Amino acid sequence: MTDRAAGLRIVVGVGGGIAAYKACGLIRHFTEAGHQVRVIPTESALEFVGKATFEALSGNRVDTGVFADVPSVAHVALGQEADLVVVAPATADLMARAAAGRADDLLTGTLLMARCPVLLAPAMHTEMWEHPATVANAATLRSRGVTVMEPAHGRLTGTDTGAGRLPEPDQIGALADLLLARADAVPRDMTGLRVLISAGGTREPLDPVRFLGNRSSGKQGYALAALAAQRGAEVTVIAGDGVHLPTPAAVHVQTIGTARELQTAVDAAAPEADVVIMAAAVADFRPADYAGAKIKKGAGEPDTVPLSRNPDILAGLVEQRAQGRLPVDQLIVGFAAETGDDEGDELHHGRAKLRRKGCDLLVLNAVGDGRAFEVDDNAGWLLGADGSETTMEFGSKALMASRILDAVTALRRRADGPD
Ligand code: PMT
Repeated sequence: MTDRAAGLRIVVGVGGGIAAYKACGLIRHFTEAGHQVRVIPTESALEFVGKATFEALSGNRVDTGVFADVPSVAHVALGQEADLVVVAPATADLMARAAAGRADDLLTGTLLMARCPVLLAPAMHTEMWEHPATVANAATLRSRGVTVMEPAHGRLTGTDTGAGRLPEPDQIGALADLLLARADAVPRDMTGLRVLISAGGTREPLDPVRFLGNRSSGKQGYALAALAAQRGAEVTVIAGDGVHLPTPAAVHVQTIGTARELQTAVDAAAPEADVVIMAAAVADFRPADYAGAKIKKGAGEPDTVPLSRNPDILAGLVEQRAQGRLPVDQLIVGFAAETGDDEGDELHHGRAKLRRKGCDLLVLNAVGDGRAFEVDDNAGWLLGADGSETTMEFGSKALMASRILDAVTALRRRADGPD
């Protein structure tokens, strides 16, 4: 179950670029959620993917020009009635026409009519994306409330690589779902901030084939990273090597195995970060001895495995900041996955953990009954060092990320003082 409302009217615009085929996955994302999808390709998009494909996938007629289906006044009605317009891929030319307010085909006409959230997912060559004309067009569109995604970095048409690749359909879909849930544009309020996020679980090896690990999938950490990048931040993720998720667009990912490797990576990157978010599930203990060869069954096999305590990375960051070894205004966010027990409920333990760790904000999630780990949705509380407590209602991990980043930006604004 997700927080996404079903049965909404979604317009999927498709620009004329090689990535047009990925729009098919996006259309599926929406139809499978129960939404009604109208696809509006440009004439050039149909050079890449046939009209029949879009009609079959959406279950609706597909037109490109304003003179098709005149009795239904489609160039007015489709934008007026839409709950969301998503354009993927948005080419440099399409962005230029949208920024100029042109209405020379059905898609640009629909963009002018739309009063709902609009999401553009650009795809083009790096030179085009970085050209001052495109930079200005993206800024113009953003200033008008359009969410213009940061593109991914990777293989482009042909053999070259760089920034300008269309994010994967699931990533565009997740952001689109967030726009639907929040009924608002994604703010660019993290521009200029450097954000360091740990994600996934650590694995503490016993021998070459066995390890002590946990069930963290990395989904929550990656959702935070994906959204922080779309809010304008420069984002680095340090992820456990058991995380098997696509790299979020415009995010740098570094992989580690053990808690001590995570500590080394976090300590190296933290001095450059304005915000550190420890979403990783870090093993508190590791096997005291690593056996270089697989421990064999039978004689010689130990009955018990002695453990050693791992460093507390989060508490270490707070201590380093207090000692002036990290920026004094760095914001440090911890996570806690808690269950209640005889001593108290999750909130009782979360509050105690916040005091123990000393971070500025603690994201508390209740675990058990299939909650928190591995699943796509979550709920919890945001506990502030200032004593504030906010309930986060059940929703997607992208929605959780959005609430957490809202709290982070609010705390930073408060620390910066009045304008
Ligand atoms: O990855 P998913 O499947 O999406 O699941 C997300 C999640 C449940 C893993 C995530 O939301 C979460 O709660 N992460 C922290 C889980 C956890 O290990 O909590 P903890 O109570 O053990 O640790 C508290 C905090 O201290 C965490 O920020 C942790 O990163 C940090 N820590 C813990 C131990 C340690 N040795 N060093 C640390 O820095």
